[in-house]
Amino acid sequence: MKKQSVVLSMGNLNLDIYIKTDAIPRPDESVDAYETYMGGGGSAANFSVAVARLGLGSRFLGSVGNDQFGDMLIKELESEGVDTRFIKRVSHERTGTVVVIVGLDGSKRMIRYSGANLGLTPNDITSDVMSGVSHVHVALGRVEIIETAKRIAKSIGLTVSVDGGTPLARKGLDVIRDAINDVDIWFMNSFEARELGRSENVVRAAENIASRVKVRELIVTLGSRGALLLRDGEVKYSDAFKVPPVDTTGAGDTFAAAYVVASVLDLDPIDKLIFANAAASLKVTKRGARSSPRLNEVIDFLESLGYAKLANEVLNRLGLS
Ligand code: RIB
Repeated sequence: MKKQSVVLSMGNLNLDIYIKTDAIPRPDESVDAYETYMGGGGSAANFSVAVARLGLGSRFLGSVGNDQFGDMLIKELESEGVDTRFIKRVSHERTGTVVVIVGLDGSKRMIRYSGANLGLTPNDITSDVMSGVSHVHVALGRVEIIETAKRIAKSIGLTVSVDGGTPLARKGLDVIRDAINDVDIWFMNSFEARELGRSENVVRAAENIASRVKVRELIVTLGSRGALLLRDGEVKYSDAFKVPPVDTTGAGDTFAAAYVVASVLDLDPIDKLIFANAAASLKVTKRGARSSPRLNEVIDFLESLGYAKLANEVLNRLGLS
């Protein structure tokens, strides 16, 4: 039954160009790179691919240019089984492009050209786009997009998650509170939590945020230390799985996708965290933002680590066992 659930993700679709190096050049200097690769990116689009690979229906809403990269990125999403019918094409801007500088420890630094992504406007978010959908995810820091998506989704009884990243956190709680109020799941990383919650202590920061904004679940991702969930005033924590890091780009998107899939399947809070940590840990072992795992890989990984009961529960709820 749950196999039919469709998750809509809205936000950026980019071409990511990766350069692996241990040095950042100064002006007029050049440095060597160990490796270069490219592929589809954009938080919201990465999320859509991860959801499709984990076994739920997946739809993406975003905007690309009328150029060859736009064509290529849409084809790539289609080949992953993502519903691309609502993607907007704009002629006045080129498809968004991001240069990702990947360190030898898998860390990332990004230089972003938003381009055609900015073509997505609140008017593009209609009840048509949400037809047949059970959950809406907004991976953007634009308040007007979050507000519109939430208003329409809530009016038809859908659940909503937001991952606004640093652009949203930088606006401050006073500016974003109305947009975030009543969101079901709000994802942020520890840097964003500290900035918004005005505390160096991540738990205290999360509690400060939750005291001022009404969200059902506040998730703070902690990189190689896992993630914490604040829900009903209670903190739950799950460690990340130890893996050799190759490229952390898109790990947060994979985590959010797996957490939303686990939420649609109505797993227990701690199981949702474990499932999402497992998916994100597997993603980190491979290069590129789109190297999120397929369902069978997460299931095998969980079983190998002694989480057979959780693995079975996921398969059951997806109607696959
Ligand atoms: O979250 C990772 C993504 O951020 C990359 O794919 C890049 O496109 C940037 O939007």
